[in-house]
Amino acid sequence: MSTHVADPGGPTAMLGQLGAVEHEQLLVRRGDRTGIYTVVAIHSTVLGPALGGCRIWHYPSLQGAIDDALRLSHAMTLKAAAAGLALGGGKGVISVPAGLEPSSALRHEMLRDFADTVNALSGRYITAEDVGTTSRDMAILAGFCDHVVGRPTEVGGSGDPGEFTAAGVEAAMRACSAQLFGTPELAGCSVAIVGLGSVGAGLARRLHGVRAQLYLSDIDPRKEALARELGAHWLEPEQALAAEVDILAPCALGGMLDDEHADALRCRAVCGAANNQLAHDGVADRIAARGILYAPDFIAGGLINVSLELTGYDPALAIRRCAEIEDVLTRVLDHAHEASITPLQASCEIAQRWLSAAAAASGLPER
Ligand SMILES: NC(=O)c1ccc[n+]([C@@H]2O[C@H](COP(=O)([O-])OP(=O)(O)OC[C@H]3O[C@@H](n4cnc5c(N)ncnc54)[C@H](O)[C@@H]3O)[C@@H](O)[C@H]2O)c1
Repeated sequence: MSTHVADPGGPTAMLGQLGAVEHEQLLVRRGDRTGIYTVVAIHSTVLGPALGGCRIWHYPSLQGAIDDALRLSHAMTLKAAAAGLALGGGKGVISVPAGLEPSSALRHEMLRDFADTVNALSGRYITAEDVGTTSRDMAILAGFCDHVVGRPTEVGGSGDPGEFTAAGVEAAMRACSAQLFGTPELAGCSVAIVGLGSVGAGLARRLHGVRAQLYLSDIDPRKEALARELGAHWLEPEQALAAEVDILAPCALGGMLDDEHADALRCRAVCGAANNQLAHDGVADRIAARGILYAPDFIAGGLINVSLELTGYDPALAIRRCAEIEDVLTRVLDHAHEASITPLQASCEIAQRWLSAAAAASGLPER
């Protein structure tokens, strides 16, 4: 079964400054093999084909999966535009029924069903890994559809994006440091990193390399070994979130910064990799009101890295492109300063400007 819905409206805009959410296309298909629903939402193709990860998740209802795809695809349009990429925003979801833990055989068939959904969009949507999927899943998908990035390096893909995301966060920190302290150099800068996974651990090593003063934290006590290795201080996550440091880098799960945590912050800047760090958009205003600089999390390197697969992947180019995030964020922070708005609002405005210019140039309706 497939259902096409044009301009469904619906969820509140994730970054509400842009007004109503208007998607180009929503495709909901019940898988021929598994009976499990797969969803792709295309928010915008004004700048190029819609790129966005495929999320495998348990949702309480199909509506929950659709809402997530709509919300996340909108965020992808902003991410791509803010990064200056010729890509639009989309998102895929495989909605696993509550209580079902798919076997590897069922998972394989679910991915084939999702590949059918991607194929039905004829290249308007390009998928990638996301929460619940890995680069190995992308390799499986690539066996059944052409519109896939994020495959393992052994098969010509860009592999684990963690290292490149870490490089992007370091570049963003340099922009924050220049704004706050008049120099982009991070030597001697105190940084608390919360979450030492693929991105956080890579970031810690990079910052150690430039002689930053590190405070490391994770809910997993085994990660303390990294703090010992790098000669860094070890803190519990709650202590790290409220540490008196120059920069706090949330690199664990999203939604870490709620009103209470925003009020407890004692850093000068928040600049990390975690997606959707703010529990709600109002937290950005709260952080700004306390004179703390917040670097919007969606200006990240992971998307830039994976997008390079579309034109022939080169890791050296990926690192150079991630370093350019320093300039991208500098423009955002300058605009925020000049217009007396938050960096989150400034990045949305700049992304919207790109979208409007591209829409005007191509005669397409703006999104
Ligand atoms: N991997 C990427 O390239 C990439 C790209 C863009 C954004 N992100 C985002 O960055 C974040 C980190 O990604 P990752 O790939 O490093 O994830 P990961 O799963 O490899 O690591 C996450 C780490 O956070 C720790 N953690 C979880 N909850 C915590 C808490 N409450 N307090 C402290 N530590 C906690 C975990 O123990 C783990 O070590 C995620 O939000 C992800 O969506 C990742």
